[in-house]
Amino acid sequence: MTVTAAAPPVAIVTGGAGGIGLETVRGLAAAGMRVIAGCRDARTATAGEGWTLDLARLSSVRAFAARALAELPRLDVLVCNAAVWPHARRRTGDGFELALGVNHLAHFLLVDLLRERLRASAPARVVVVASGLHARGQIHWDDLHFERRFDGTAAYAQSKLANVMFALALARRTDGTGVTSTVCHPGVVATGLLRHQPAGRWDAGRALTPAQGARAPLHLALSPALAGVTGRYIDQLTSRQPAPAALDRAAQDRLWSVSERLVG
Ligand SMILES: NC(=O)c1ccc[n+]([C@@H]2O[C@H](COP(=O)([O-])OP(=O)(O)OC[C@H]3O[C@@H](n4cnc5c(N)ncnc54)[C@H](OP(=O)(O)O)[C@@H]3O)[C@@H](O)[C@H]2O)c1
Repeated sequence: MTVTAAAPPVAIVTGGAGGIGLETVRGLAAAGMRVIAGCRDARTATAGEGWTLDLARLSSVRAFAARALAELPRLDVLVCNAAVWPHARRRTGDGFELALGVNHLAHFLLVDLLRERLRASAPARVVVVASGLHARGQIHWDDLHFERRFDGTAAYAQSKLANVMFALALARRTDGTGVTSTVCHPGVVATGLLRHQPAGRWDAGRALTPAQGARAPLHLALSPALAGVTGRYIDQLTSRQPAPAALDRAAQDRLWSVSERLVG
């Protein structure tokens, strides 16, 4: 990507007002980009430009994308970062299980709505912030929304597996267009996501700071060494194979079709 005074490259970070997202906004801005921080309450953004985006309502995703298409002349980097780890059965405004809806389906729709703008701005990068916990996830095809028995960790892990599968499927679909799709585990990071976990789930003393956690998405978004690299999964800064379930192309395609149907 080329930085010029007239038209700085543009990035969007979902969940850009706190945790890893805020540090990602700061890092992209420091690299000379105009950065839009998508947040539930735009007034909470302390870096970049805060724009309202509630991923628990597809109408908000559509409004955000429409604004981006109207106001952003280009889009070079889209970081799908926001996530929730629910502790009780909750639904999005569209009736989806909260983790699946916010973490996966809303980002699926957002990328779809912005895909042509990314393509027109190529080389452009989609970066998905997933989690190593994807390896403990499975897609509950017959109960995607945990209607039968709710388990917050299983719901979160399902959504993070969906993140990895989506990023890899997107890489295949955008191959040769100049748009790349990569995905990361940022490490175990001391943010609100972990602080709200029941005691004993994580070791506060060993957790990374949010700035350290942002290194992985920033690397995928900015590193010249990754120009043109697509379909890559990194664990912090190390390239790894994601869990076998994430690599199943038939399952990736099935998830894509199901997601398309759900977001309409
Ligand atoms: N922390 C870790 O150890 C860890 C490990 C592996 C992966 N990750 C991943 O890292 C990413 C960032 O998480 P984090 O650790 O920085 O957690 P965090 O501090 O809780 O940040 C999550 C962000 O998501 C936003 N968000 C939640 N629900 C939203 C909604 N409905 N609409 C729009 N935004 C919403 C939050 O916005 P509000 O400010 O409005 O709440 C917040 O900015 C997530 O994808 C997470 O799965 C984190």
